[in-house]
Amino acid sequence: MSMPPPSLASLCLEWRQGLFSDLPWERDPANTLAAGEAGGYQVKATGYPHCAYLKPVRVCDEHNPRGANEKIVADLAQDLGFNVPPVLLHRRLNALLGEEIRCCVSLIMYPEQYEWGMIWDLSIFPPPVQHLIRESLSHYSKTFALDLLIGQTDRNNARNVILGVGSGQPRHTELLFLDHSYTLNYGNRWANNAWSNLEMVPIPPLFRESLDKTLVLEGADDIAQFSEETIQQIVARIPSDYMSDAHKATVATALVGRKNLIRDFVDRNL
Ligand SMILES: Nc1ncnc2c1ncn2[C@@H]1O[C@H](COP(=O)(O)OP(=O)(O)OP(=O)(O)O)[C@@H](O)[C@H]1O
Ligand SMILES: [Mg+2]
Repeated sequence: MSMPPPSLASLCLEWRQGLFSDLPWERDPANTLAAGEAGGYQVKATGYPHCAYLKPVRVCDEHNPRGANEKIVADLAQDLGFNVPPVLLHRRLNALLGEEIRCCVSLIMYPEQYEWGMIWDLSIFPPPVQHLIRESLSHYSKTFALDLLIGQTDRNNARNVILGVGSGQPRHTELLFLDHSYTLNYGNRWANNAWSNLEMVPIPPLFRESLDKTLVLEGADDIAQFSEETIQQIVARIPSDYMSDAHKATVATALVGRKNLIRDFVDRNL
C-alpha cells in the first residue's frame, strides 16, 4: 500500500477532522474529468491551492444518500490507512432547480491521474510489465477488506480506481479507491438486520487474481480492532438532511456488526 507524502497526509487529516467545506467551490474551467452517473465536476476555490471533485448533481432520494456515504467511507478509510481521498460535505448554494444541494467534495490529491480500466487487459503489455502490474495491485489488498465492510457494489468499474501521480522527483504514485455512492445502506438494503449477510465484492478479474489473502486478512483484523465509538461518531455527525436518523442508526449498527464478520468471510471465500 502506498501512502500519501507527508505534506498531503496533513491535509488529508484536516479534511478528516472537518465535516463541511464552506469554500466558494466553483466549476474549474480546466476540468478534464468526465462526469459519472451521479453527475459531478472538478471544482476549485479562489485562494485554495487544491482542486476537488464535486458530486452529486443529480438529486438523491432518501435512501440514496450519496454525499453522506462518501463522507462516512472516506473518514473510515482515513483512520484505517486505506487509499481513499478525503471528503468534506458541501452545500451547493448555486445549484439549479432540480439539482442536488446536499453535495460533497472529494480532494483531488495528485496533478496527474489515470483510470485503472487502462490496465485491466494485461495481454496488451509485455510479460515483465504484467508482473509489475500484478505486484503493484497486490499491495492494495487491504483496501479490499474496506470494500467488504462497506458492501461496495461498484468496484468492478473501470473508473472507480485511479492511479494518482505526484509532481515530485521521483514521482510518487498511489492507487486511489473512489466512488462510495453504492455502499452502506443504499436503497435501505441493510434494514431488518440484512447487513449481517456479507457478500463478495464484485471486482475485475485482474484485481481478484492479484489479491494477497494474508494482506486482506490483515485489513480485516485492522477493521475488527477499529473503535466502535469512532464509528458511532463518524456516522452521528452527518446532518440529518444528508442522511435520515433512521438510516444513520442502521449504518452505525451495521458497521459495528460487520467489522467482526470480515475475517471469517475472507477466510472462507478468498
Ligand atoms: N478525489 C478524486 N480525485 C480524482 N478524481 C476523482 C475524484 N473523485 C472523482 N474523480 C473522478 O470523477 C469520476 C466520477 O466520480 P465518481 O466515480 O465518484 O462519481 P459517479 O460515478 O458519478 O458516482 P455514482 O456511482 O454515484 O454515479 C471518477 O471516475 C474519477 O475519474
Ligand atoms: Mg464512478
